[in-house]
Amino acid sequence: MSPPFPTVLQIAVEAARAAGAIQLARFNTVVEIRKKGAVDLVTEVDTACERVIREIIGSHAPGDAILGEEGGLTGSGGSLWIVDPLDGTTNFAHAVPVFCVSIAHESDGEVDAAVVYDPMRDELFAGELGRGATLNGVRLSVTVRRELGDCLLATGFAYDYRTSPRHNFDAFAALTRASCGVRRMGAAALDLCYVAAGRFDGFWELGLKPWDTAAGALLIREAGGTATDLRGEAYLPKMPDIVASNGFIHQAMLGTLNKFF
Ligand code: IPD
Ligand code: CA
Ligand code: CA
Repeated sequence: MSPPFPTVLQIAVEAARAAGAIQLARFNTVVEIRKKGAVDLVTEVDTACERVIREIIGSHAPGDAILGEEGGLTGSGGSLWIVDPLDGTTNFAHAVPVFCVSIAHESDGEVDAAVVYDPMRDELFAGELGRGATLNGVRLSVTVRRELGDCLLATGFAYDYRTSPRHNFDAFAALTRASCGVRRMGAAALDLCYVAAGRFDGFWELGLKPWDTAAGALLIREAGGTATDLRGEAYLPKMPDIVASNGFIHQAMLGTLNKFF
């Protein structure tokens, strides 16, 4: 009997683990680093990871479209894979062990499966629309903290932070004062997973790309949390700004952020 066709989630897991294995093997070795912008790095590992992810998706679902950070959009149609082959490239390039692979699948514009894999900790975050989110197979849920002052938040800074007048520094200061602290881990997909896993109570960042957020936003919702833009509209991967939380502190986060944006 021939084996059954793998599900979309199984394909994403296979691809994420393969890319994660490359990251582990190359971590803290000499890798070629190029600059895409003043502070925006890309390494040969980013491109190698995207290559293997594209090969695996292509072997199972040859007709599907893929939007990858390094390779752009290939193919067309309603079945779209959104891929960040290495989220946290600056960390990786500096041998800081905080990075991941992020793969989401969209059917006709709706994200229906998501995988984020942290190879350093062998943590696989996975979820499907309407079926919950898991970490290494264990069901996830967001925190139940209601007071912003008791909450641990995370954020990041878009690569135009040296020059853009629309920066996150003042909001960072305000939300640091209003909370228990704000972490800046340097991998947005992982930040979102940490909200889903109840490690952070909330996360926000401006100027992100679909491959940074598509997987993590689904995982947060499936873990019972909320993901919106700065106006409180339901978050979609094409939106550059995201506010994500356990839901209880969402209005308080938006209220502070809306003083600046
Ligand atoms: C970056 C990371 C970082 C975030 C940046 C992203 P990359 O992605 O997620 O945490 O602050 O906005 O672009 O370039 O490492 O894939
Ligand atoms: Ca990224
Ligand atoms: Ca990346």
